[in-house]
Amino acid sequence: MKNICVVGTGYVGLVSGTGLADFGNNVVCVDINKEKIDMLLNGKIPIYEPGLKEVLDRNVQAGRLSFSTEVDKAIQAADVVFSAVGTPPGKGGEADLDAVWKVGETFAKNLNSYKIFVNKSTVPVGTGKKVYQLISEKKNNTVGFDVVSNPEFLREGSAVGDFLRPDRVVIGSSSAKAAEIMKDVYRPLYLRETPVVETNIETAELIKYASNAFLAVKITFINEIANLCDIVGGDVHIVAKAMGLDGRISPKFLHPGPGYGGSCFPKDTLALTQIFREHGISTKLVEAAVEVNENQKRLVVGKTKQLLPDLKDKTIAILGLSFKPNTDDTRESPAKTIIPILEDAGAHVQVFDPVAMEDFRRDFPKLDYRISPYHAAENAHAIVLLTEWNEFRDMNLEKLKNTMIEPNFIDTRNVYNKRIMNSHGFRYVGMGRSLID
Ligand SMILES: NC(=O)c1ccc[n+]([C@@H]2O[C@H](COP(=O)([O-])OP(=O)(O)OC[C@H]3O[C@@H](n4cnc5c(N)ncnc54)[C@H](O)[C@@H]3O)[C@@H](O)[C@H]2O)c1
Repeated sequence: MKNICVVGTGYVGLVSGTGLADFGNNVVCVDINKEKIDMLLNGKIPIYEPGLKEVLDRNVQAGRLSFSTEVDKAIQAADVVFSAVGTPPGKGGEADLDAVWKVGETFAKNLNSYKIFVNKSTVPVGTGKKVYQLISEKKNNTVGFDVVSNPEFLREGSAVGDFLRPDRVVIGSSSAKAAEIMKDVYRPLYLRETPVVETNIETAELIKYASNAFLAVKITFINEIANLCDIVGGDVHIVAKAMGLDGRISPKFLHPGPGYGGSCFPKDTLALTQIFREHGISTKLVEAAVEVNENQKRLVVGKTKQLLPDLKDKTIAILGLSFKPNTDDTRESPAKTIIPILEDAGAHVQVFDPVAMEDFRRDFPKLDYRISPYHAAENAHAIVLLTEWNEFRDMNLEKLKNTMIEPNFIDTRNVYNKRIMNSHGFRYVGMGRSLID
C-alpha cells in the first residue's frame, strides 16, 4: 500500500485515482480546476463514466480516496506522484507538454523525501528523460527520485473495468527500486497475474503511441473496405466477421463508422507522425490513416447528399454528438466536422445526444439542441445517426417517420437494417452494405 498523489483529475486521472485507491492505496486526486474538485468534494462526478460513482464512493467512504486543489501538500505527502494531465495537440500536431513540465516543476519543489514521478499521460518518446532532467535542475536538495512511464490504456465508456482489469500494465523505468514500488502500487493485479511489461522508459512511451496508432489504422482500414463494399455490393460486416475469425486479425476494431474521434486517436496519430519526422524518418501508414479518417467524416456528408442532393434550407437531425456511446466526451467527435459542413451547405441542423449536449455546447453554443431523438427529427428531411447510443438502437420507427418531412436515414454505425428501414418507408444508407437488402 502506497501514498499516492494523482495530478490531473480528468477522464484518466479520476478513474486511475479511484482504481488505485480500490487496489488499497491511499490516494489524493488533485487538480487546478477548482470547479471539478468542488464537485467531487460534494459527491458529484464531473464526467459521465458508467460505474465510476459506485467505486469512487466506496473508496471515499473507506477513507482511501480524497480530492484537493492543494497540489504542493498532496505531493509532499506522497510516495508516488502520477501525472495525468492533458497533452493536447500543439499547432503542428505535436503533443503540447506544458502541463507535464508544470507538474515536473511542482514535483521538484515539493521533493521532501524519495518519490517517484509517474507519467500516466500519453507523452512522446524522450519525455521521461526530459522530465528527469527538469526535476534534477529544479529541485533544491539532495533527495532522490525516479521517473517512471506507466501509460494508460483505458477506454472512455468502460474505463472503470479497463483500469481494474487491464489486459496489461506497462512499467517503463531504469530503476529497480522504482519498478518494485510500482508493482506494489498495482499489487492486486500483480497477484492476479495480469501481464506486467517491464521495460525502459522510451519503450513504454512508444508502446502507447504504437498501440493507439495501430487501432486507428485498423479502423481506417475497415472504413476503406466498407467504402469499397458500397460500390461493389459487398457486406462489410460479413467481411469483418470472416476476417476476425482469423486469430491473427481479431474481430475487434473492425466496425465501420464515420471516422474515429475522441481525445486519443486523432491527437496520438498526429503526434506519432510528428515524432517520426523529428527523428528524420516518416510513417506513411499513419499519415495515410490521418488523411483517410478526415475524408471518412466528409463522406458522411456525401452519403447525406446521396439521399438529399440539395441541402439548402433542409433540416437535418443529428443523433449522437459524443465520439462514441457511454461518454460525454465530444473531443474530436465526427459531429464537430460534419455539422459545420452541413450548415455551410445551407442546412438547418437539429441535434440530440443522451449525455453529451452540455460538452458539445461549449464549442457549438448556438445549435438547435433537442430533448429526444423524436424532437430532433421533427420536420427533418434526413436523420444522420452518428453515435450508437443504446437509446438509438430501438427507436419507434413509425413515430420517427411521421414527425419528419422526408424519411431519409443515414446510419453511420449500421445500427439498423436496410430492408426493415425500407419496409417502414425510410430511404436508407448505411456504411459498407448500402446495396445489401
Ligand atoms: N481520455 C482517455 O480515454 C485517455 C486514455 C488513455 C490515455 N489518455 C491520456 O491521458 C492524459 C489525460 O487525458 P484526459 O482525457 O484525462 O484529459 P482531461 O483533459 O480530461 O484531464 C486533464 C486534467 O488535468 C488538469 N490539469 C492540467 N494542468 C494541471 C496542473 N498543472 N496541475 C493539476 N491539474 C492539471 C486539468 O484541469 C484536467 O482536469 C492525456 O495525455 C491523454 O492522452 C487519455
